[in-house]
Amino acid sequence: MRALTMYEIPGTPVPSELPDPSPAAGELLVRVAASSINGYDAAVAGGLVSHPPPEFPFVLGKDFAGTVDAIGERVGRFSVGEAVFGVVTGAFPGTGSLAEYVTVAEEFGVARIPAGVTPTDAGALGLAGTAALDAIEAVGPAPGDLVLISGATGGVGAFALQYALSAGADVIATARPGRQADFVRELGGDRVRLVDHGDDLLAQVRPMAPNGVSAALHFAGNGEILAELVAAGGRMASTLGFGPVQAAGRGFAVSSVVASPGAATLDRLAADVASGLIRVPITQTYSLAEGARAFTDFTAGALGKLAVALP
Ligand SMILES: NC(=O)c1ccc[n+]([C@@H]2O[C@H](COP(=O)([O-])OP(=O)(O)OC[C@H]3O[C@@H](n4cnc5c(N)ncnc54)[C@H](OP(=O)(O)O)[C@@H]3O)[C@@H](O)[C@H]2O)c1
Repeated sequence: MRALTMYEIPGTPVPSELPDPSPAAGELLVRVAASSINGYDAAVAGGLVSHPPPEFPFVLGKDFAGTVDAIGERVGRFSVGEAVFGVVTGAFPGTGSLAEYVTVAEEFGVARIPAGVTPTDAGALGLAGTAALDAIEAVGPAPGDLVLISGATGGVGAFALQYALSAGADVIATARPGRQADFVRELGGDRVRLVDHGDDLLAQVRPMAPNGVSAALHFAGNGEILAELVAAGGRMASTLGFGPVQAAGRGFAVSSVVASPGAATLDRLAADVASGLIRVPITQTYSLAEGARAFTDFTAGALGKLAVALP
């Protein structure tokens, strides 16, 4: 099969030919139609995740969408031919999804793609959508709340922005002027106020929320600065490891989120896309052969989701 492969880390992903994997007991073999780039993939390629030490070559990729091509023994929930999506959750460096085929455990991290959701959208939904939903559930936005989203221009932030608005909250979102600001305005409409993360965040947010924001979502930038902007009794969630220890003594709750793509979460994400409640914020789609460029573009500063589609 064709795959986007690492032969060393840190290194550059290389398109290559590898043997097709076959499903072990409890696993599905998925013929991949689409995937996407996530920060985790970039961190692996950049040599920032190297425990346990990987065996080379290995395939990158967490998100997948495609069709069940074969099933291992004792698979009960899925059948050959079903359209599925999700997140590869095996231990690093398990088989990755930036390939024509991937094996995944049926137990966790996989769900059916409902009618009305394209494979390309489903392939960019799993990890970022789950992280966003887990963070949103941790802070519980409600009508009357003002939620500050740092990293609103990334994949996780763009999903969270839509969920915060759909819960009735108003949002302050980080975006640089120009393309980023246009992207956030298009996603969020006029209930979103923009602040430029290239400039002083404290000076921009304080006049908008003199008593502090109800909640902050930390998907990029400096958690300490965000924490200073949260009202007493407010909430904060971080996908960057800013948690209760870092926030001790500040007088509000902080959740350090580790995305957990269980079937219920994936089903909800897909249903919300199918119903139009949220849209998958893909800004660019690459072929597998263009995968190395997708990584370079992601690392240079991604806007929304960068999808990888396999013909
Ligand atoms: N804990 C978990 O389970 C989990 C799961 C998924 C993701 N994550 C992590 O969560 C983070 C967000 O993920 P993602 O996929 O959305 O990443 P991403 O697509 O790389 O997005 C990050 C966005 O934040 C912007 N940004 C950079 N510096 C900023 C700053 N100082 N203030 C505000 N915005 C800034 C970037 O724009 P510029 O072009 O301006 O740099 C980019 O648009 C990543 O670090 C990822 O690794 C964790």
